[in-house]
Amino acid sequence: MTIHADLHHVIYALSDALDLVGVDDVAHGKRVGIMAAECARTEGLTEGEASFLFDLGMLHDIGVSSTCTHCHLVEEFDWEGSQIHCEVGHALLASFVPLAAMALPVRYHHTRWDALPADLPSDVARRANRIYLADRVDALAAPFYADNTLLLNTEGIRNSIAGHAGSYFAPDLVEVFMAASRTEAFWLMLEPRSIQACLLDQLARAEPFPASMDDLRRLAGIFARIVDAKSPFTAEHSLGVARLARFLAERLGVPAENCDKLEIAGLLHDLGKLRVPDEILDKPGRLDSRERRIINTHSFETYQILRNIDGFEDIARWAAYHHEEPDGSGYPFHLKGDTLSLEARILRVADIFQAMVQNRPYRQGLSVPEVSSFMHELADKGRIDAEVTAMLLTDTAWAIEVARPVFPPLPAAGRIPESAPQV
Ligand SMILES: [Fe+2]
Ligand SMILES: [Fe+2]
Ligand SMILES: [Fe+2]
Repeated sequence: MTIHADLHHVIYALSDALDLVGVDDVAHGKRVGIMAAECARTEGLTEGEASFLFDLGMLHDIGVSSTCTHCHLVEEFDWEGSQIHCEVGHALLASFVPLAAMALPVRYHHTRWDALPADLPSDVARRANRIYLADRVDALAAPFYADNTLLLNTEGIRNSIAGHAGSYFAPDLVEVFMAASRTEAFWLMLEPRSIQACLLDQLARAEPFPASMDDLRRLAGIFARIVDAKSPFTAEHSLGVARLARFLAERLGVPAENCDKLEIAGLLHDLGKLRVPDEILDKPGRLDSRERRIINTHSFETYQILRNIDGFEDIARWAAYHHEEPDGSGYPFHLKGDTLSLEARILRVADIFQAMVQNRPYRQGLSVPEVSSFMHELADKGRIDAEVTAMLLTDTAWAIEVARPVFPPLPAAGRIPESAPQV
């Protein structure tokens, strides 16, 4: 055991990453969790069930990494493409035992009440429908958050939900929602400051859940897949970076504890990319300076998420520094070589190397001679660490093998850009 972290705490922090997909509105999951838990309390369910629904709400969109998909889901009451993210979420959650009970409710969280499979266990059906209802309330409320007019529009939202009783939503769950949402307090809880307070309350109530190293690695692996699924150009990137960083660290004599942490930092280093709009990440052609500035915020966003996790202090720094260059010309902190730890320098080399050797839909990865000469050039210019690069290039063919992991595919993400971007 090398990291002292609480699994609940890690899940809450990582749910921030899911909410980044909202770009300018980054609290969808949390608001759904708050509403679902509040309805559960109004209904008189146990505190344990209310907490479960809170967590389920925070993670229900774990299958969404595309900003376009998020827009459809918020802007259309019943979008025809919605089932894909339910299937992706189901597959991700089912693969991780501590969250496996959420898998089925997530699979059915966009299925109308009158269309749920007859053989679905009733507790699953009701959990799924509770999340669907809260999720649609948040979609109906979305236009009113930015200009602070939500309280003027709650009756319209309530009427709309009531109109779907018996079709989209279970009639008794609609009744519960109508009772819970009568008060101003219900809606005021959805404001940013109240959300933070609700989160802290919820965390304080949760039973301690010390995470094993294996739990942390698996959970980080799930979030790596979410990030990597965002674009067909980055499939398996985070996974490959993590593997290569670990192998390099072991060869460079990094202590075992830090090898574990570095692997997790590799899995999570691009979390902040979830906030980059699809059209920028997948843009065919050069990015302009505005787009470049947006994409360059991602490593700081990663830092913001990971720094909140007790026990993740090193992981947060190493992950956040993956675009820092030894000569001080990187971003976002412009750190220089002597302030960058060996682990951070390893992660940067692994990140660049993986991106170069990765096969992409529009091109094969670079060959051994091509990638060797490119890496030498970067090291000579002081943009990547020379010692780490030398170690990597002692066996370039082997490094390519490590950096190109093969992972079973997720259900089709369904979004392949027509033409390739220039990186
Ligand atoms: Fe949602
Ligand atoms: Fe990055
Ligand atoms: Fe990366």
